[in-house]
Amino acid sequence: MSHPKTFLCRCEDVTLEEFREAYGEGFSELESLKRYTGVGTGFCQGKGCMSEAAAELARLRGIEPGQIRLTTIRPPAEPLTFGQLAALDEPIFHAAQEEEE
Ligand code: FES
Repeated sequence: MSHPKTFLCRCEDVTLEEFREAYGEGFSELESLKRYTGVGTGFCQGKGCMSEAAAELARLRGIEPGQIRLTTIRPPAEPLTFGQLAALDEPIFHAAQEEEE
């Protein structure tokens, strides 16, 4: 038994209870649970929660975790610091501004 305020996704403050309620409302795929609850959409882009969310969904559905279809990963695959962005050789933001002009 988990505490009602057990956080599944600490970045987006999604509790295990909210995740289970969303499943009970009919959101039975990880992608739809992600969109409905916000789980996995925070700063870490799911690194801190998606494996546990998949495991919990597998428990709820009574299947093996490996049978859960994972969500689509979108870039950036790794979070960047502002320092890393500032150190990029290519001036990506300036190039976009020049195209608009
Ligand atoms: S813990 Fe869920 S997105 Fe970071």
